[in-house]
Amino acid sequence: MMTTDSSGDVRLSGIGKTYGSFTAVHPLDLTVPQGSFFALLGASGCGKTTTLRMIAGLEEPSSGTVHLGDQDVTHLPPYKRPVNTVFQSYALFPHLDIFENVAFGLRRRGIKSVKKQVDEMLELVQLGEQARKKPHQLSGGQQQRVAVARALINHPKVLLLDEPLGALDLKLRRQMQLELKRIQTEVGITFIHVTHDQEEAMTMADTVAVMNAGRVEQLGSPTDLYENPQTTFVANFLGTSNLIEAEVDSKTGGEIVVRAGGGKLLLPEARCSASTTTGGKVLVGVRPEKISLAHADDAGEISEARNRITGKIVDSSFIGVSTQYVVDSPACPGFEVYAQNIDRDPRLVPGAEVVLHWSPAHTFGLDAAQDIDAGVETVEEEAA
Ligand SMILES: Nc1ncnc2c1ncn2[C@@H]1O[C@H](COP(=O)(O)OP(=O)(O)O)[C@@H](O)[C@H]1O
Ligand SMILES: [Mg+2]
Repeated sequence: MMTTDSSGDVRLSGIGKTYGSFTAVHPLDLTVPQGSFFALLGASGCGKTTTLRMIAGLEEPSSGTVHLGDQDVTHLPPYKRPVNTVFQSYALFPHLDIFENVAFGLRRRGIKSVKKQVDEMLELVQLGEQARKKPHQLSGGQQQRVAVARALINHPKVLLLDEPLGALDLKLRRQMQLELKRIQTEVGITFIHVTHDQEEAMTMADTVAVMNAGRVEQLGSPTDLYENPQTTFVANFLGTSNLIEAEVDSKTGGEIVVRAGGGKLLLPEARCSASTTTGGKVLVGVRPEKISLAHADDAGEISEARNRITGKIVDSSFIGVSTQYVVDSPACPGFEVYAQNIDRDPRLVPGAEVVLHWSPAHTFGLDAAQDIDAGVETVEEEAA
């Protein structure tokens, strides 16, 4: 068989899944290019696992097709697809040592001389020293690396990972994110990684598909999603956005002038995903780290070219690299501002009257007909 560079592409065409009258995944078109590290990101219940299971062949789609390269695998059973899955529960064989756990896939295929391949895999996941230990003698992170080695030894074209780091504590999770990224770069096969953790998706993936209620809401590189969110859900789910309800005043040379909280702001037309007409509403967004904070007494020193709103500091938390302020403003309650700790102004404390200012270029515009709080994580959701 001739192999081409696209033989590890995953192509989903109109793939969807319903359970009775409930739609878990709306018909979806998605191409994951060979060799990429792709993340499906979204809150619990949005359809990530269902999508992954349809690629693996563990779930029958209600509509659409799955292609791997040129091959239509929609009706192939899981074991006939060049795909392997790593789950959150490592499901290692407890009575077998690490070497035999990794060798399992080869032995099952009747391959006798497994040593070279298993050693290579253990080297890849940096567990060469642990070959003769049993799973329970390893840490959670090490066990998950065994699971990755066991999945990769069959040389799948695509590795699917379903919240593989979910059981690990935060520090180990951060280490494993870098470790998995290194492994993917080294083997060069397509990884599709499911996670509800936006930092994890942004750290690891070349391309992230943000899912919401069974749909891909936006797809792009981490920087593109962060800097150019197209919906309130993406703006709020990836990091934090300040969203201001504004009215379109006028348009001049590529810039939209909007009115909010008694003042005017400039919004580059090219960064506006909403259709805007004069008098119409638009949501104006700006990220917390793009904003400078000045004491009201220094307002005269701020350049006229900056967007500005006034407000009062209601909260500030010092977190080492930065101080995070919450500012109440007529334009927007609970405005968030992250200031790098360089020279701290001792007047910037709760109760202080301040001016927030930022470059119009850092302003984006969203359709006002959306829920302004979509994708905002609540305390209960984070605890779940
Ligand atoms: N076998 C099933 N029967 C009925 N509903 C299901 C089944 N599997 C999943 N669902 C529902 O489909 C939705 C998506 O589930 P899932 O893909 O597991 O979400 P995620 O992995 O993003 O948390 C959820 O609302 C879930 O309850
Ligand atoms: Mg899931």
